[in-house]
Amino acid sequence: MAYETILVETRGKVGAITLNRPKALNALNAQLMTELNQALDAFDSDATIGCILITGSDRAFAAGADIKEMEEKTYPATYLEDFFVTGDRIAARRKPMVAAVAGFALGGGCELAMMCDIIIAADTAKFGQPEIKLGVMPGIGGTQRLTRAVGKAKAMDLCLTGRMMGAEEAERSGLVARVVPADKLLEEAFAAAEAIASMSLPILMMTKESVNRAFETSLSEGVRFERRVFHAMFATADQKEGMSAFVAKRPPDFKNA
Ligand code: HXC
Repeated sequence: MAYETILVETRGKVGAITLNRPKALNALNAQLMTELNQALDAFDSDATIGCILITGSDRAFAAGADIKEMEEKTYPATYLEDFFVTGDRIAARRKPMVAAVAGFALGGGCELAMMCDIIIAADTAKFGQPEIKLGVMPGIGGTQRLTRAVGKAKAMDLCLTGRMMGAEEAERSGLVARVVPADKLLEEAFAAAEAIASMSLPILMMTKESVNRAFETSLSEGVRFERRVFHAMFATADQKEGMSAFVAKRPPDFKNA
């Protein structure tokens, strides 16, 4: 498919999406959100893809929702179109998703990164929820996912002051999995995505579902869910392959079965 606001490529089992509105620092307009979901649909339905990588440019992962597009919206319009419900479709993806973030990840850009499963940040990355300065607040999960990631103190600090947080602070706070030199970002992020994609896809998806369950349930119910899914994994050929490969001292050859 021909896209105007994103670039799409496949590297082995990794499907990569690069946000590409450089003049607007990759601001998330309606077209970009639609195209992003279309590209994710295509990677989801492609059985050869085991991990999805989302990135932006050196200057910006994404500087937020498109303020110029939002400026004149009315309450009934936002309500009727369920403005940014498109974010829910991104967050509900079942394959693993890695965000490779350099430069600004602000507002909806930070929220998009947080919808991914792992954030790998360049040392140039700047995260923030500056919506308060525009007279609104985060609207694509920022008050919820940021709070779960970094706790109330830091989430309140960022959401109420609108200040930006650098990569080191973001890693210290638990938002970011790794910080790497900017010139190594894509290499490191692709290596991580390729490592993930080399695993069994159904087992990856069940593991993602189980980790995410931690945010939705009590500890005892979450542990029970984990154990039941863990048991179910013994019905897969990939469990037999993974364990027999270990015993035979050879690399596993997972069949996604
Ligand atoms: C539309 C944007 C934009 C945005 C930047 N641009 N961010 N356009 N929406 N979110 C545009 C600028 O207007 C400008 O275009 C060009 O990108 C370069 O930006 P500059 O401001 O000139 O660059 P710089 O001085 O380096 O500052 C970078 C910046 C700043 C600090 C990132 O652009 C900024 O503060 N942007 C807004 C960040 C923000 O508030 N994000 C949250 C959005 S609300 P022109 O053509 O004018 O030169 C949000 C809500 C989500 O995300 C929930 C919705 C439901």
